[in-house]
Amino acid sequence: MLSLVVVLLLSYVVGSIPGSLWSSKLLYGIDVREHGSGNAGATNTFRVVGWQAGVVATIVDMGKGAFAAGVLPLWTPFGPHPTFGMATESHVIVALLCGLAAVVGHMFPIFAKFRGGKGVNTAAGILLALTPISTLLTMLVFVIVLGTTRYVSLGSILAAAAFPTIVAIRKYAFGADLTMSLLIFGIIVALAIIVAHQSNIRRLLAGNENRVSSFKPAKG
Ligand code: G3P
Repeated sequence: MLSLVVVLLLSYVVGSIPGSLWSSKLLYGIDVREHGSGNAGATNTFRVVGWQAGVVATIVDMGKGAFAAGVLPLWTPFGPHPTFGMATESHVIVALLCGLAAVVGHMFPIFAKFRGGKGVNTAAGILLALTPISTLLTMLVFVIVLGTTRYVSLGSILAAAAFPTIVAIRKYAFGADLTMSLLIFGIIVALAIIVAHQSNIRRLLAGNENRVSSFKPAKG
């Protein structure tokens, strides 16, 4: 059994594993932060390096979120998994705190000079582990926005805002067994993701944001 502080630190370290940077640099010798949007994320890896490295980055970034929220809390005195166990509010809060530490690690990674990504895939991994139905509905929002606009960033922003809305509707309109902490976490992460997308929002407003098929991605 580990103390909560140790597990939170481990969550930060796991979140710091830079999926996009390592998949592009170790496999292809390219630093994604020097190209495309300059973001150390899976989208920029797809854009700059190719689908193979992009898929690896996506799996690593989602996997570390799911691991931090779904597995690491099992080593604390708050053992049962919030989705599958007899979870109380405190179990969910511990899982969410571990997830939050992983998102902080992803955004400010100790393994990459604190220059990380925007946290979308890591947050998706956390939420998939804790509330799969709400997360799959959120992913549907992302797919619809991406399919109609071809902006990944707009899909990410709207999906981030959709998640707490979906949790609130399921909880209050349909009586789903979702905790208040999940709703608060969803709001905090949505705000963090929107703030991380400031440069994308500026480009969207200026009409020069990268679309999925752009050849010359805007930097920054
Ligand atoms: O998850 C990041 C995505 O929403 C935007 O990535 O590289 O276009 O800034 P990028």
